[in-house]
Amino acid sequence: MSNLKEILMNKKNCKSVWFMRQAGRYLPEFRKIRSQNPNFINFCLNSKLSSEITLQPIKRFDLDSAIIFSDILIVPYALNQNVEFIKDKGPKLEKFNIENFLKNDENSFIKRLNPVYEAIKMTRKNLQKEKSLISFVGAPWTLLVYMIGAKLNKNEINFEIIKKKKKEIEIIYNKLNDYLCIHIKNQIKAGADVIQIFDSWAGLIPPNELDRLCYRPNFRIVEFCKKNKIPVICFPRGIKENYKDFNNLIKPDGINIDYSIDPYWAKENLKDTVIQGGLNPKILLLSNKEIYNNVKKYLDAFKGLPYVFNLGHGMLPETNPEKVDKLVKFYREY
Ligand code: CP3
Repeated sequence: MSNLKEILMNKKNCKSVWFMRQAGRYLPEFRKIRSQNPNFINFCLNSKLSSEITLQPIKRFDLDSAIIFSDILIVPYALNQNVEFIKDKGPKLEKFNIENFLKNDENSFIKRLNPVYEAIKMTRKNLQKEKSLISFVGAPWTLLVYMIGAKLNKNEINFEIIKKKKKEIEIIYNKLNDYLCIHIKNQIKAGADVIQIFDSWAGLIPPNELDRLCYRPNFRIVEFCKKNKIPVICFPRGIKENYKDFNNLIKPDGINIDYSIDPYWAKENLKDTVIQGGLNPKILLLSNKEIYNNVKKYLDAFKGLPYVFNLGHGMLPETNPEKVDKLVKFYREY
């Protein structure tokens, strides 16, 4: 934990700020480049552009960390499952085939991800020394949901498939764990300082299956990171009061709370970790006064503790960048 504290906080009195999806559609300079690059995966694999986009929010706002511009679905892509992003609909993956999945090998996986590592190297060179560079992976559960097409709609999963495929999921999880650890190791080797594990759909798992589908796979990755002295932040979005069990069992260096978690509850129940995030991204669509009041709520709750200011989920495309600027200035002065 102390390692993460030093890296993310830059010894700034236990304070640090960055935002999930800080590089993205709410920035006009992002939209300009994006409009010239319609294929999202190819866009992510353009190292020069990826690095440039990673640095856009750093240039605009006084943020403490950059997060590399890529996507969690770059891993299924690198495992030879075609990934497309359909406008206004989201990602669409080619039908999953376990034989093809198991045919993958480490060398071709790394080769396909090499542009991400190049982007990290370029970014590290151009990022001020005192700022940290965050890289990330999707947790096995969240990747699985996309890979096997288990999602019915925004907030529902076809859990029957999951129950039927117990053995197959175990095989997929084992392989995914290996590949995710390889991707983590290479991102760190390229110059990233911290890893964040996004388990965006953890909240869709029935509580009696959390252990098998969320805790264990996150634990394995966190153990790998600890063994290799890699600071790691987990984000098991949507698991409500189970955040406490998650934190006690997995013991990550940092944990990102979502906006359904009360900051005072988090302070009482999430011990021996750096807490990050929480603010509902929709708050940024409100007036300055409402923004400041809500930011204050988090800063007051975590006063004196190592707390990384961030959101409870990614920045919304309709966010006005000026509001972000105001928030950061308010945060610095508070
Ligand atoms: O700035 C950053 O946070 C770094 C880059 C980043 C992206 N995706 C870029 C992106 C990160 C960390 C992610 C993670 C990611 N990707 C997650 C986990 C976090 C979360 O949001 O829950 C998930 C589930 C994905 C999968 C994904 N990628 C979806 C569902 C979508 C479409 C929906 C959407 O938000 O547009 C994407 C596309 C995507 N990834 C965009 C960006 C900037 C938007 C691309 C565009 O259309 O211009």
